[in-house]
Amino acid sequence: MSEQARALAQAADAARFAPSIHNTQPWRWVVRGDRLELHGVAERQLREQDPDGRMLLLSCGTALHHARVALTAEGWEHEVERPAGDPIAVIRITGRQPAPAEATRHFQMLRVRRTDRRIVTDETVPEETLRHLVTETEQGGAALHLLGADQVLELAAAVDRAQKAEDTDERLRAELATWVGGERPDGTGIPASVLPEEVPLSTVAERDFQTSGTLKAGEGHGRGAAYGVLYGTGDEAADWLRGGEALSRLWLAATEKAVNLLPLSGPVEIPFTRHELRRMLGGIGHPFLALRLGVLDPAESAPPHTPRLDTDQVIEVVA
Ligand SMILES: Cc1cc2nc3c(=O)[nH]c(=O)nc-3n(C[C@H](O)[C@H](O)[C@H](O)COP(=O)(O)O)c2cc1C
Repeated sequence: MSEQARALAQAADAARFAPSIHNTQPWRWVVRGDRLELHGVAERQLREQDPDGRMLLLSCGTALHHARVALTAEGWEHEVERPAGDPIAVIRITGRQPAPAEATRHFQMLRVRRTDRRIVTDETVPEETLRHLVTETEQGGAALHLLGADQVLELAAAVDRAQKAEDTDERLRAELATWVGGERPDGTGIPASVLPEEVPLSTVAERDFQTSGTLKAGEGHGRGAAYGVLYGTGDEAADWLRGGEALSRLWLAATEKAVNLLPLSGPVEIPFTRHELRRMLGGIGHPFLALRLGVLDPAESAPPHTPRLDTDQVIEVVA
């Protein structure tokens, strides 16, 4: 294998740690010489919950950004094409450069970041940090709208309506049950160990996965939480991919600042609540994801990492 092909395979391997909807990891990488192709995997798309593939492409976007962070941290300059079809994206190495310090820091965060569904404390995220996260999101190719107190209540209502819509849909419930709970020995889905024993009591509810986990979510009502909507200017496949890239950048930056990020995708999945989020954005953009930002109690230990598929299940090297 050439040095470039090895670097691309290593970047794809680092991207295994990217977040994805229900840990479906709906991607497959093909290393072809100096090119790394990102493909979607139809068998790991949530057909009922995500028929348009919005969450699939957001997830693939996080993997694409993870791979790019790994390449940059190893000093590989590269360019990206985003056909957003099949392949979804192609990365091509173009040269060498000294690794920027920021990429090295972000690369370290790939293995630290995780979805932590414990309740956040009453401590608020400093304004300056929130502004930094807004800037990081913009540099990642999307936008982050932080909600004022009134809008937080509107979000809470939208989350509630979306949850009820999902709870009453038999096919959705059946699909969810195949991806969550238990030990997940196949390396996909969400194990009980990272799901709260009960959905914590907070102004904006976390997703109810319809199964109780073993995670102790902690006390309080998470009053320090800030809420936001990740959005972009369009609502097509290419926009969702960019949204995922921006989500990855935002999440790594938040991890570096010890800010907990919890995605709340329910209200984007259901068309009428997605419409409500769009109205909350004043029509300036299309919502990709609602999210919570907060501070966790540093004295409590974090939940384990969610398992991943093996390297040879997601990466293929062709001559
Ligand atoms: C597009 C997207 C939507 C998600 N939506 C939710 C959600 O609504 N609720 C939740 O608890 N986690 C959500 N997650 C987090 C995933 O469940 C998580 O990334 C996955 O289980 C892998 O775990 P990890 O992030 O700890 O590595 C979402 C992640 C992505 C990328």
